[in-house]
Amino acid sequence: SSLHDEECDYLFKTVLIGDSAVGKSNLLSRFAKDEFHLDSKPTIGVEFAYRNIKIGDKIVKAQIWDTAGQERFRAITSSYYRGALGAMLVYDITRRGTFENVKKWLHELREYGNRDMVIVLVGNKSDLVDSREVDAEDGRSLAQLEDLCFMETSAKENLNVEDAFLQMITKIF
Ligand code: GTP
Ligand code: MG
Repeated sequence: SSLHDEECDYLFKTVLIGDSAVGKSNLLSRFAKDEFHLDSKPTIGVEFAYRNIKIGDKIVKAQIWDTAGQERFRAITSSYYRGALGAMLVYDITRRGTFENVKKWLHELREYGNRDMVIVLVGNKSDLVDSREVDAEDGRSLAQLEDLCFMETSAKENLNVEDAFLQMITKIF
């Protein structure tokens, strides 16, 4: 293995899930590369990104998987979830339907995912205040009911993105 691999103490696989166009790929590119794309295309299949995070005196390498929200572009579900220790379940605060589908994603997570996976519920696009269709309180109560962490983010304005990923990774650790 490469020197790079030997320098990290832990490797954590985590996954992004949620409806199409909620901003999963942009949350990932913001966290991994500090990039945002207004014109990003729907993901086809699976993409990955890595970021090393220092927790205490240990280095955790977070391997983050990103797949399509659209059914027809999705990768094989069982292999996507296999070995994942954390999941970020994303909805779009400007589209109520993406929040209503959170239950569906949770069902899939519980069917295929590890039993004690850390799940963070993320309401993305918090910069779009004028088109909000989901109150932060709705996200927070659902998270409480389902025993999840919760955060609102903006990949565009880089609000809470770092916090959301770090919360998930630190909790796994
Ligand atoms: P699929 O790959 O189809 O599942 O979609 P996705 O969830 O990966 O969404 P993606 O990251 O491609 O973003 C979809 C659209 O939303 C793009 O036009 C992004 O620029 C936009 N977008 C993502 N995050 C934000 C955000 O925080 N604020 C705003 N205003 N737009 C965002
Ligand atoms: Mg995508």
